[in-house]
Amino acid sequence: MKTLVITAHPDLPNSTVNKAWKERLSEEPGITIHDLYETYPDKQIDVDREQQLLLSHERIVFQFPFYWYSSPSLLKEWQDVVLTYGWAYGAQGTKLHGKDFMLAISTGGPEDAYRAGGYNHYSMSELTKPFQAMANLTGMRFLPSFVLQGVRALSEEKVKESAEALVAQIVSTR
Ligand SMILES: Cc1cc2nc3c(=O)[nH]c(=O)nc-3n(C[C@H](O)[C@H](O)[C@H](O)COP(=O)(O)O)c2cc1C
Repeated sequence: MKTLVITAHPDLPNSTVNKAWKERLSEEPGITIHDLYETYPDKQIDVDREQQLLLSHERIVFQFPFYWYSSPSLLKEWQDVVLTYGWAYGAQGTKLHGKDFMLAISTGGPEDAYRAGGYNHYSMSELTKPFQAMANLTGMRFLPSFVLQGVRALSEEKVKESAEALVAQIVSTR
């Protein structure tokens, strides 16, 4: 099964986690890494190219740092322009049907902040509902998310371990 990892980090040179994940994933056979901010520095997304990439992979992963309880904006723009009516949804919009979909997210806030009574109040499952709804409407199977939390305090070793765990999660559900 071919996996397309669409990664979106607006400041990759200063990234720790997403940079490490991207580097590790790019070594893995069967995985295509597609970096949106690198590909589109002018933010002009090539819709045909993106749709062809989606068609040639069976599993789609969105990989990003959590920004304001969602994704960085270019990934939202990607959704807006690539997932078109009659292609990704609507009666004739069946191109993504049957594909797997997964999220790989890093958050600054720690795990215990993401629950009722915690300072972010809501769980990651609750906050990622728009992605779950997107997968549902486009006929993709939403797989359990890979979430790494409290990333500001992580050692280099823990970051490396998380990259291995992310690969293992993708591979185990192949
Ligand atoms: C604009 C912006 C918004 C952010 N919003 C959140 C947020 O809503 N929740 C959170 O836990 N962390 C938030 N963070 C922290 C990032 O998620 C964190 O720095 C990132 O996951 C670290 O990954 P990296 O090492 O790849 O940059 C935000 C950071 C920035 C710059």
